[in-house]
Amino acid sequence: MTQMQQTILEAFHFRHATKRFDANKHISESDFNTILEAGRLSPSSLGLEPWKFVVIQNREIRDKLKAISWGAQGQLDTASHFVLILARKNVTSQSDFVQHMIRNVKKYSEASIPATEKKFDDFQTNFHINDNDQSLLEWARKQTYIALGNMMTSAALLNIDSCPIEGFDLDAVTQFLSEEGIIDETHFAPSVMVAFGYRETDPKAKVRQTQDDIVEWLE
Ligand SMILES: Cc1cc2nc3c(=O)[nH]c(=O)nc-3n(C[C@H](O)[C@H](O)[C@H](O)COP(=O)(O)O)c2cc1C
Repeated sequence: MTQMQQTILEAFHFRHATKRFDANKHISESDFNTILEAGRLSPSSLGLEPWKFVVIQNREIRDKLKAISWGAQGQLDTASHFVLILARKNVTSQSDFVQHMIRNVKKYSEASIPATEKKFDDFQTNFHINDNDQSLLEWARKQTYIALGNMMTSAALLNIDSCPIEGFDLDAVTQFLSEEGIIDETHFAPSVMVAFGYRETDPKAKVRQTQDDIVEWLE
């Protein structure tokens, strides 16, 4: 096995869903910035980056989230950094956001924009993405999980622990964040949370299906 192969597999064995972190250990600014960069640089469908990362360090907000996030009981109290990943709503070719992306971020030429919009529309229709508001949101949510995975793997490569978290009351969290002015419900919805820090105790051995169970080769 090459050094690189070993490094990658060790990181995947190292990563586990950490229930409690050592609250005395803090992730360095540069390590955490690397994790955020892994999220920012993640791929997304049509390259539209339909996400936002809210880093929740405020203790009061964490405490209030704890009351409505059953899957983050140990993590909210102890994580060095706690991130809420938001998914963007209504990502369609005519939305202000997509227009901003193609004109100001991707800097497509004016002449190419009509063809780009048609490509986006055709793709979203073919995949039933733009059937309704919910299907559009679910498409955006899928992209956030790519960023989530990349952030957790990058953390593991830095010997930093993490836990992905879907264990929260979606409606209550949305309402709370909206009332606090943390999310603008017109444009964003909570997608998934992720906690980062350093393990307090060693995890149980990993349990997974074998490759034979899950991989099929067609030759
Ligand atoms: C999308 C997603 C959401 C999850 N939500 C929670 C959660 O709310 N709380 C928790 O403790 N673990 C959560 N987990 C962790 C899984 O239970 C865990 O990854 C799985 O049991 C495999 O264990 P391992 O990650 O330690 O290898 C979540 C995992 C994923 C991928």
